[in-house]
Formats: sequence, C-alpha cells, structure tokens
Amino acid sequence: GKDGYRHYMEKELHEHPLVIGNTLRRMIDPATRRVVLPDLPFDLAAVPRVTMTACGSAFYAGMIGRYWLEGEARLPVDADVASELRYREPPLTPGGLALLISQSGETADTLAALRSLREGGQHVMSVLNVPESTMARESDVVLDTVAGPEICVASTKAFTAQLSVLACVAIGAARARGTLTDAREEELVQALLDLPGRAAELFGLGDAIREVAEVVADARDVLYLGRGAQFPVALEGALKLKEISYIHAEAYAAGEMKHGPIALIDRTVPVVALAPNGRLFEKTASNLQEARARGGRLMCFTDNSGAARMARIAEKMVVLPDAHEFTAPILHSIAVQMLAYEVALLKGTDVDQPRNLAKSVTVE
Ligand code: F6R
Repeated sequence: GKDGYRHYMEKELHEHPLVIGNTLRRMIDPATRRVVLPDLPFDLAAVPRVTMTACGSAFYAGMIGRYWLEGEARLPVDADVASELRYREPPLTPGGLALLISQSGETADTLAALRSLREGGQHVMSVLNVPESTMARESDVVLDTVAGPEICVASTKAFTAQLSVLACVAIGAARARGTLTDAREEELVQALLDLPGRAAELFGLGDAIREVAEVVADARDVLYLGRGAQFPVALEGALKLKEISYIHAEAYAAGEMKHGPIALIDRTVPVVALAPNGRLFEKTASNLQEARARGGRLMCFTDNSGAARMARIAEKMVVLPDAHEFTAPILHSIAVQMLAYEVALLKGTDVDQPRNLAKSVTVE
C-alpha cells in the first residue's frame, strides 16, 4: 500500500535515501571504502568505447553517467535513445561496451538495441531494477538497482538508484584504467556515502518547492536549464513535469539559450534553473542573468554555497544542502521530481497513472 502517503509517487520519492543507500551498499566495500564491481567477463581497461542507450528517464540517467565516465575514466561514450540507436547502424568497434539502462528490463526499444549491439560485437552491461527480466537474461553483466518495486508510472527512486550504480561504474572503470588517484577515489566514495543523509534533508525543502510549484502550475510553458551534468537533470525535470502535470516543458543546456530559445522568454514562461556551485556555476549564472534581463522569472535550484550569488537574480530559490560536484546531480534530480509532484497536486491530475502512459513499454 501507500503507507499513509497520498500517492505512490510521494511514497517512492521518500524512498530515495533508502534506495540510494541500499544500491551503494552492493557496490562499495565498507571496510576498504572502495568500489567493487562484479567479476566482468571482459577487461574494462581494454574497452575502446562505450555505447550507452535507454529510453526516457533511464536515458537521462545514462546521460549523467556519460559525464562521469568521460570525466573520471576518460572513456569515450556515445549516447542515444534506444528508438534511434537501433536503426542508426553506428559503426561499432568490436570489444566495445554496450551500457543499457532500464527499470523494467522489458522496454522493447532498449531490448532491440541490446540485441543489435551484441550482434555488433559489444560486451553487454545492463543496469536493471528487475533481475529476472528479459534484458537481464540477455546481458553479460547485470548491475542491480536495489530500488524495489516502483508502482508510480513516472520513475523516481529507480532513477537515483540507476545514478548510484552508474557513479560506481565510472569510479570502477577509472580505477581499472588508471585515471583515478586513491585520493580522488576516496573523495568520490565519501561523496556517495554522504548522499542518503543529504537526500533525506531535501524533504525539509517542501515550502520552498511549493512556492515554485505555484508559479509553474499557472504556466502553459516552462523552461528547464542546466549545464554539464545538470543538463540531463533539466531534461529529467521537464519530462516529469510533462508526464504528471501535462504542462509543456522543455530543457536546454543553458549555454544554448542565446542560439534560439531565449526568444521564448517572457513573464509567462517561468525558467527553472539548476545551478549548484561548481565549475560551471559562473557560466550558468551569466546565462540565467541574460534570461532575467529579458523579463524571465527565474526559479533557481542551487545549494548553500551558491545561494548568495543566485539571490541577486532569482525570483524564487530552492536551496539544497551543499554536495560534492560529482553527486550534486543526484540531489537535484530528486528536487525536480519533488517539484513535478507538487505541481501535479496543484493541478489535481492522476499522479500515479498519468493519461496515455504505461509503466512498461513493451511495444515499439
Ligand atoms: C519517466 C519514465 C519513462 C521510463 C522509460 C524507460 O518517468 O518512467 O521515461 O524511464 O519508459 O523505462 P524502463 O526504465 O523500464 O526501460
């Protein structure tokens, strides 16, 4: 049942800290505090390239994983949605790694992409929430997200569990490839282990998120902006809003605004910005300033150390706890999912069963 929550979505949002902790526990040795990947039937150090594919939210998790794999393990990653990849016929180097991500393990397009990547001589690694699924049976390695059953059609806790696994894969691959110092590994593992506690703190942000939700619920169109690994978080936020509140939302890499989308900005199109402090913070801030100068209403998700800077331009702010830049996208994903939920409550939609959608898409 819903354990006293109004919707499965609300219950599942509250399971983020637990699920992240359970997923990490499978992958981080508590004694050595090192990432332990399962025995692989191939050598990660010898993999020339990764082809990552999935659908919907699972694909956005993979996009965040791409920043980690490229940044930490210096592995080139090709990323495409499965419905495109399966027909694209990309040239594949034999011995490459296919990285598939799926909650259900039954998504038709993702499964078809898996089969064609295998045919192209790729090792198949899948990040799955259902261990006895079709994709699990057809993979060389399965990494489990320990999210438990996800009832709400819109994915929540499975998403952060996928991110937890992908972060560990990036760390493990980086170690195998010699691109990670011990000090950096310790730092990243600590950041991951801090996540359940930080995620639990997000539930104290309800009032701030509801204030943003009131503005968003009145809009017909909403823009989500982020840079770097926060760009896929913007995509996830926009998708979740569309799915459960039926408000049109688009996500852009903040640096792309001036190449077209900024023409959309006016008082009627709220901008949800993902801008925690970090390497791209000042660049994001100046993109947001430009939107603000054109009359945009900025709803800014930042962190404690970014709050003072953002307060100068944002109309409303949601201030998350500080986190390592590596793990900040995970916390911000939870926050944008919480926002979508609050907007859906205001709109009175059927949160757990959005119209036209099914939990598992087993037809093309
Ligand atoms: C969004 C959502 C969908 C799924 C997508 C893939 O909230 O739930 O976009 O992420 O349909 O499904 P799986 O992960 O089962 O392959």
